[in-house]
Amino acid sequence: AVPLRVGVAGLGTVGVGVIEILRNQAALIAARAGRPIEVTAVSARDRSRDRGVDLAGLGWEDDAVALARRDDVDVVVELIGGAEGTALDLARAAFSGGKSFVTANKAMIAAHGPELAAAAEESGLALAFEAAVAGGIPILKALREGLAGNAVGRVYGILNGTCNYILTEMRTTGRDFSDVLAQAQALGYAEADPTFDVDGIDTAHKLAILAALAFGGRPDIDAIHVEGIRHVTIDDIRFAEELGFRIKLLGVARMTGQGLEQRVHPCMVPLSAPIAHVEGVFNAVVAEGDAVGGTMFQGRGAGRGPTASAVVADLIDIARGHAGPAFSVPALALGAPAAAPI
Ligand code: HSE
Repeated sequence: AVPLRVGVAGLGTVGVGVIEILRNQAALIAARAGRPIEVTAVSARDRSRDRGVDLAGLGWEDDAVALARRDDVDVVVELIGGAEGTALDLARAAFSGGKSFVTANKAMIAAHGPELAAAAEESGLALAFEAAVAGGIPILKALREGLAGNAVGRVYGILNGTCNYILTEMRTTGRDFSDVLAQAQALGYAEADPTFDVDGIDTAHKLAILAALAFGGRPDIDAIHVEGIRHVTIDDIRFAEELGFRIKLLGVARMTGQGLEQRVHPCMVPLSAPIAHVEGVFNAVVAEGDAVGGTMFQGRGAGRGPTASAVVADLIDIARGHAGPAFSVPALALGAPAAAPI
């Protein structure tokens, strides 16, 4: 079978994870995809850095955008990040160069997803971004496939592993916000600019994408009320516990009589709700459909293995020829009543 040849832009924690999974599970992946999936070329800033993975025999590009012009690349995987700049140039170049495109870049998809999806579809190529929302949890595939027969009334969740980790550590160790943030950065969960995590912006990017998939329309970050966790104190967390609540940073999108409501802020979640017990770097997403009722998806939302797992799943879809349109819900079949919360 003809291999699917992959160019990886960005060799940080996730890029290395993608190479490792494709190598360690090569036989399993080839069997599932119907053909081998091989990394043929990479791009990163510093060629000499030891990343703990063997890059011998792979093509190297100093300029990531050059991956889109290589004859030995069928699919570009973008793990650079940032809504604009090189990541966006690379996405556009990939489609004009006849290559499908897989990304974990929530900021870029929230800002430019529909434009990129249109460019992909015009050329019969795929745009896939499962890794952009809730890391390893296959929530975009769940909304597009498993729940496709439902009108969704509400989708919400813990979408930022760094914030959930910080809130959990503050509660369980009594250490303060800035101390725990430094630890989350050291563990590699936080964004390059951690204000995106703690001020709720990263959650808003992910919520905008979830809402577009669940309800149709474009991701609309400007429509989201956003408040982060910077001002949450250990006392707030303790008093909430005494009253039977846990403080969680949630992103919530809900259809109301007045239209789609989207918000990100710290919430008092009753301890009786399963999502209150999703702790540490874990994420969880609750999706409520008119036929299915409430569903909850839980898993690791950041880090090498989980995020790479989602990237590889997208590559397998593309290798099979099953990727489908990126935003599969046309605008809009709205007004679903919210199911009973779980
Ligand atoms: N900084 C993000 C988080 C990484 O903490 O969830 C995954 O998108």
